[in-house]
Amino acid sequence: MPLVSMRQLLDEAAKGGYGVGAFNVNNMEQIQAIMEAAQQTKSPVIIQASRGARQYAQDRYLYHLMLAAAELYPEIPIAMHQDHGNSFETCKSAIELGFTSVMMDGSLKADGKTPTEFEENVEVTRRVVEYAHERGVTVEGEIGVLGGIEDGHGAGGSGLEHVTDPDQAVEFAERTGVDALAIAIGTSHGAYKFSKKPDGSVLKMDLLIEIHNRLPKTHLVMHGSSSVPKELQDIVNQYGGHLKETWGVPVEEIQLGIKNGVRKINVDTDNRLAITGAIRKVLWESPEKFDPRDYNKPAREAMQKVVATRMVQFGQAGHAGDYSAVSIAEQAKGYANGTLSTAPLVSAK
Ligand code: 13P
Repeated sequence: MPLVSMRQLLDEAAKGGYGVGAFNVNNMEQIQAIMEAAQQTKSPVIIQASRGARQYAQDRYLYHLMLAAAELYPEIPIAMHQDHGNSFETCKSAIELGFTSVMMDGSLKADGKTPTEFEENVEVTRRVVEYAHERGVTVEGEIGVLGGIEDGHGAGGSGLEHVTDPDQAVEFAERTGVDALAIAIGTSHGAYKFSKKPDGSVLKMDLLIEIHNRLPKTHLVMHGSSSVPKELQDIVNQYGGHLKETWGVPVEEIQLGIKNGVRKINVDTDNRLAITGAIRKVLWESPEKFDPRDYNKPAREAMQKVVATRMVQFGQAGHAGDYSAVSIAEQAKGYANGTLSTAPLVSAK
């Protein structure tokens, strides 16, 4: 199957009432881990690269690895997504390269740190939507500001400082025409999300439910959705790491989100922990080893396990064969003739 648009994946997920994990990658082993997990669980999948990842790997390498994935796993629908684009130019370059989806994170200025004013966010996101939709490419926007920092991108903080205002979310979606919307409901990027065990009410679910009710056709996105499992922290620390005690987003909270319109769930930290733990274990136990395959292989397997588990928990498992690919050119026609419009049914409360 060719790479498909993220919009198609998310529309199908909405029909089926499940969520789709969006996993970050920087190298071949991470892409392989995701694809093996997708095959194992028969899942459609979103693979995403941040600006940092594109720079680290040289994005052309990543793109061709993604083409290899599509060729090797023809039964798996795969969307290739730019995570946290910081400007029109970043999104444009991703689209030119062949990404089938981009996030324009206009909640922050191009420095990736300073929160923007609402109008500035609308302006840059609308510009990206116009450019992307003409080419059949999906756009995710962000309203409200997430907490934490990832790959140098983020405003920092706890994630509760700039939660999304539902009125702004509706106006933003109407004026930009985004396909998917990342909202801030208390999650943050990175390993240090919560300093005590979350009690089941860590996320602002009331906001999420209100936004979903008012924007039923806009797919909601949960960033910062790693669960930061204690088992993974323990492996890192057992083999010489120094992670402070921390808690992530409970999977049950994500599942509640999925019942209320969340279709894309971003996970990076859990995979980083799994990889690091596996590598540390090999090097700690067998200090004589120096063939990178000796530690990259267990690292890849550890990540595959985490991804496969999340695919089952998010409900995407078993859905890879539900549909065949709609071409990006076909998607462009859908935007042009209005069939892919996400305009809300009612804009007022
Ligand atoms: P985590 O740090 O919780 O894995 O979140 C990743 C993310 O949201 C990428 O955009």
